[in-house]
Amino acid sequence: MAYNLLSGKKGIIFGALNEMSIAWKVAEKAYEEGADFILTNTPVALRFGTLDKLAEKCKTEVIPADATDVEELENLVKKTMEKYGGKIDFILHSIGMSPNVRKGLAYDRLNYGYYQSTLDISALSFHKVLLVCRKLDAIKDWGSVVALSYVASQRTLYGYNDMADAKSLLESIARSFGYIYGRDKKIRVNTISQSPTMTTAGSGVKGIDRLLDFSNRMSPLGNATAEDCAGYCVTLFSDLTRKVTMQNLFHDGGFSSMGMSLKAMTQYDKSFRDYPGEGD
Ligand SMILES: NC(=O)c1ccc[n+]([C@@H]2O[C@H](COP(=O)([O-])OP(=O)(O)OC[C@H]3O[C@@H](n4cnc5c(N)ncnc54)[C@H](O)[C@@H]3O)[C@@H](O)[C@H]2O)c1
Repeated sequence: MAYNLLSGKKGIIFGALNEMSIAWKVAEKAYEEGADFILTNTPVALRFGTLDKLAEKCKTEVIPADATDVEELENLVKKTMEKYGGKIDFILHSIGMSPNVRKGLAYDRLNYGYYQSTLDISALSFHKVLLVCRKLDAIKDWGSVVALSYVASQRTLYGYNDMADAKSLLESIARSFGYIYGRDKKIRVNTISQSPTMTTAGSGVKGIDRLLDFSNRMSPLGNATAEDCAGYCVTLFSDLTRKVTMQNLFHDGGFSSMGMSLKAMTQYDKSFRDYPGEGD
């Protein structure tokens, strides 16, 4: 069911690669809610992904940009403003990649060149997007910028590797830039801390199947899906959340507030029954 929440709003959506991508679901939902937007991804992703299919569905176009490259971002933002005849209302940053994770290099063995790439792609790119938009005065007053994060920014989760550091930086950039952009232009900047989700990036995380299962069982509402996340993003792009800024907003079925659940306690007790003498 659509509510027309984004009727007349224009935006840019970064990071849709294929139908599993969270950004793909956000684009579909934003389109349903009446928004017009440009889709963007790296030239390589455009070759391997299926973004044209999404562009056709949402009656829009794709402008390539590597989000670590300021010139390419400037080109993207300028072309978007030309297309829409002025400023835009919202941006989704749905970008993440760690070469260390890809190469299977654990946190205590990582490659520092790759580490810098992780931070550049997954966090500094958010700063670059904000900086370019501010320089070009590209976002309307009360516009909204959202990036996607994960709870490993704040708590250690086995296997998340240097992406945990990137997410901490990403959330900090949202606060630091959120202050400046809010003060000067009333523009909102937030991160959404999403449940683990089976996507191309998600499937790179070590033990993702078990992580999904664990967080699903630990969350009173169960994991939030990519479609659920799209709904939350739309509310943040809408006028209904005009005073929400500089926040890391958990969208995880309650996982981040849990310590111990009944199911986990039962399983814990059971493990001592199976291995007598290991308790206490
Ligand atoms: N999947 C999960 O479990 C999960 C959970 C919480 C947060 N997130 C975050 O959600 C976001 C989207 O990831 P996803 O799970 O939809 O996976 P995905 O693989 O579909 O999306 C990641 C996107 O980042 C793009 N990208 C990589 N390098 C780029 C660059 N230099 N410039 C521009 N784009 C670039 C990729 O092409 C891809 O489209 C990421 O920030 C991810 O960390 C994912």
